[in-house]
Amino acid sequence: MRAQRIRKAVFPVAGLGTRFLPATKTVPKEMLPIVDKPLIQYAVDEAIEAGCDTLVFITNRYKHAVADYFDKAYELEQKLEKAGKAQQLELIRNVLPPGITAIFVTQPEALGLGHAVLCAKEVVGDEPFAILLPDDLIWSRGDGALKQMADHAEASGHGVIAVQDVPLEQTRSYGIVDAPGFEGQVGRIKAIVEKPAPDQAPSNLAVVGRYILPPTIFGLLEKTPRGAGGEIQLTDAIAMLLGVSPVDAFRFHGTRFDCGTHLGLIEATVRYALDHELLSGPAREMMQSALDELGVVET
Ligand code: UTP
Repeated sequence: MRAQRIRKAVFPVAGLGTRFLPATKTVPKEMLPIVDKPLIQYAVDEAIEAGCDTLVFITNRYKHAVADYFDKAYELEQKLEKAGKAQQLELIRNVLPPGITAIFVTQPEALGLGHAVLCAKEVVGDEPFAILLPDDLIWSRGDGALKQMADHAEASGHGVIAVQDVPLEQTRSYGIVDAPGFEGQVGRIKAIVEKPAPDQAPSNLAVVGRYILPPTIFGLLEKTPRGAGGEIQLTDAIAMLLGVSPVDAFRFHGTRFDCGTHLGLIEATVRYALDHELLSGPAREMMQSALDELGVVET
């Protein structure tokens, strides 16, 4: 991979979000809020912080809400301006800051994450790019996870995949990498397997939804046969990529919340509320009184 700064970020958001039905019948999963921002906004902010100026959203024809959210809201802006609500005006204008381009590509059928990424081929062209799955929310006090990864990609010229240590009994829920001798923050990936049973897993290093990949991945995705559930798996194409281009596993600084699950979304809401400059105190009190009221006693 060429050692260069990534500029383009792909957000595959065309999934059906079945785990959040019935809410996701009309509200895309990526539009579910954590405190005051939808999940997609956290991922977009992280990509922009990492240096990306072109954001590619892979949506489906039912998900107008994502495109609407990033569109300019003229009427609302005028009303806020007239009412002198400068702070709120700033908030909605900063959804997409100046100089950032948003491109929307439709995935005609939900044929899997790999297929969704392939839909970005023409827009990304011949340069390394990032993929962010917005339901993996990463909370960090310092640099965001993608910025940490982009710095490493730029310095090394390698592909980079975010990983975190998970308990061995959870390997069935993740892509798992084999990175022999992995210690500290970075290790070269030798193999990757999708959702292995604990006794088949090569490690407990689980893939998190942040990737920096070379454009070679598109040709490999075109050759990837449909796997489990008739879907084209990104993991299968990455497994082929490992044979032609170096890819590193990267243990980022930060806490990841799996907002594709109910508990993960609740956990993220609690954490962001407790870390919020205005809400932290009242949120703490509210949680305490809920625990008291329900008779939950500390042991
Ligand atoms: P998930 O496996 O989380 O699927 O997709 P999902 O449809 O979003 O949610 P559940 O499991 O039904 O609740 C991982 C990522 O890949 C995207 C999703 O939008 C999500 O960001 N994706 C998945 C697509 O863009 N297209 C697809 O065909 C499948």
